[in-house]
Parts: sequence; structure tokens; C-alpha cells
Amino acid sequence: MQQKEFVELCRELALVDDHALTKTILPVVKEHLANNSQNKLPVIWLETNDSGDNNIAFMNTTFPYLGQVFSEMIDLLYSNTFMAAQGQDALMILEQTAVLYRGRFTLVVEGAVPLKDNGIYNIIARTANRSITALEAVTRLGSLAQYVVANGTCASFGGPTAARPNLSGSVGVRDVLDKEVINVSGCPTNPDWFVGTLAHLLLYGRPELDNLGRPTLFYGFTVHRHCQRRSYFDRGDFAKKLGNIECMFSQGCMGPRTSADCPYRQWINYVNWPVKANTPCIGCTNEDFPDGSTPFFTPLPEKSGQAAAPGGAQTLPAGVPITRGGGPG
Ligand code: SF4
Ligand code: F3S
Repeated sequence: MQQKEFVELCRELALVDDHALTKTILPVVKEHLANNSQNKLPVIWLETNDSGDNNIAFMNTTFPYLGQVFSEMIDLLYSNTFMAAQGQDALMILEQTAVLYRGRFTLVVEGAVPLKDNGIYNIIARTANRSITALEAVTRLGSLAQYVVANGTCASFGGPTAARPNLSGSVGVRDVLDKEVINVSGCPTNPDWFVGTLAHLLLYGRPELDNLGRPTLFYGFTVHRHCQRRSYFDRGDFAKKLGNIECMFSQGCMGPRTSADCPYRQWINYVNWPVKANTPCIGCTNEDFPDGSTPFFTPLPEKSGQAAAPGGAQTLPAGVPITRGGGPG
């Protein structure tokens, strides 16, 4: 399969078949590995300051399932969350594999990196002599990696870990590395966004990225663009309260300035997503999440409904930039 076909599969066919991407990843990967005598994608995965939500979401991957990702797609060399080894054994594996796979492995970072007080608010390992901070590990491993993937909004942009008052001085991975970071943002990330990005790296290398470093095959459109309540928005028909069936822009929905394919990709084995579950999008993939979204679900002023005139998708209330989160509307 050509790269163009893969990207179209991710972007477009998911609209008519929610499983299109995931059903086809494994056969394509298997064919690619067989034809190229190539190994699986070598991955070193560091979990730093986050809630662990992204690895939990990752474990919910379907088509391919988690076991298939590990056995047939990626070679997980080190993970302080998933591996059985602990302590000195784990650290030895990390040091050896980083050298052995230098320039060939993909570094996945899940979580933000604290900078304050020389980064002591996240220690990934201790030796007899010293503590190894996330700052040190991400900086060193990032410099040795072929690709760096920030998995989740904390790793991408700081996210909830860096929210006000950000006592640990946490930042996204891009702020500590002098190289490109592929930001798979989301709180958490949809398993397809993450597994699909790894599949693209394995099959075709670096994916096309938007202005925030996110793969356009998953973040190419706003949530608003394909939302099932879009017709209500275009008619200027807004929910009076949560639970109403109309557009929830009046209830603080951030869909118009949030890039992600949630309306057609959906979540939880492709059955639901926030708006379908009657809750506004809170902009979890955005660069300024959560500070730019809080207080959540804040109803807009009474006049907001009039500002969004029928058919006038661009006539949002003053001060609400439709694409502040990046990506086309
Ligand atoms: Fe859907 Fe929110 Fe856009 Fe309304 S504002 S159409 S609920 S994404
Ligand atoms: Fe996040 Fe909004 Fe999707 S809150 S999960 S980007 S609908």
C-alpha cells in the first residue's frame, strides 16, 4: 500500500467505515515487514508526569489488539510502565538498548517534563549514587532517537500537568528537545491516533504534521467540521442546557477550535464520543488545554445564539477564534 492510500484510509474511509484504519493496519504491516525483511518498530517508552491515562487508552486498542501491537508491530525495548524488569535490571536494559539502537529507535514520552529544581519532581530511576530525572532521560534519549513521539497532551504541550499554578514547572517534550517532536495530543489519546502514528512511522517514516506538530491524518479537521450536531449550529439552534439535543456551543463546546476526528473515529471500541454522549468537547487536544478551556461547560452569554447566524458557521461570537487550536475548520 502506498503512503497516499494509507493517509486517505485514515482520513476519509473512516467516515464510512469506523474500522477501516484498524482493520487494515496489521495486514499492511505484515506485508511490509515480509517484503522488506524489516524488523518491527523499536520503541523506548518513558512515562513521566501524567495520570497514566494514555497507556490505559492504548491498552484499549482494538484491530489491532494490544497483544498484536506488541507481537507484530512494535518492539517495546523499555517501558517503565509495561515491562516486567525493575530497578537496576530495568535501568541496565534502558542504557544498553539506547546505545544498541542509537538512531533507529522511536522514543515515546507519555507525560510532561518538570523543569523546576533541576527536574527533581519526576525521577525515572535511582542508582546508588544519584537520581535520574525525566528531564535528563528525555534529553539524552531524545538526542539518540530517530523519532520522538509525545503521547498525550501533557507530553505534547504540558497539558493538565502544566496547568495553573504549575508548581513543578512542567513543560511539553518539545520544550526540552532540540529536534522535531511528533505530538499525538489528547487527554487521553485515542488508541487509533497513537497506534496509527506508530504504523505510519514503521511503514513510511515521518507523517505530515500540522502547525502544532500533530499528524494531519488524525488532526486535519476540527471536531466541529464533522460533528453530528453541526446542522443545529448552522441553523443557530442551540441547547438551552446540557442534555438538550441541539448544538452545545451555547454550553461551552470547544469543537470549533479543536482539531481531532472524534465525531467519526469515536471512542471505546468506536461506539461513542463526547458530543454523542451529550457533553461538550472540552478541547483536550489543544495546545492551551486545560487552562484555555476552563471553567468547563461555561454557558456563553445569551447573545451567542444570535451571533452564530443560520448558515453562518464562521460567525462565532467575538473572541472565539475558530481555529486557535490549529488545523483547518
Ligand atoms: Fe458540535 Fe460543538 Fe460544533 Fe455544536 S459547537 S456543532 S456541539 S462541535
Ligand atoms: Fe477531546 Fe473534544 Fe475529542 S474533548 S476527545 S477532542 S471531542
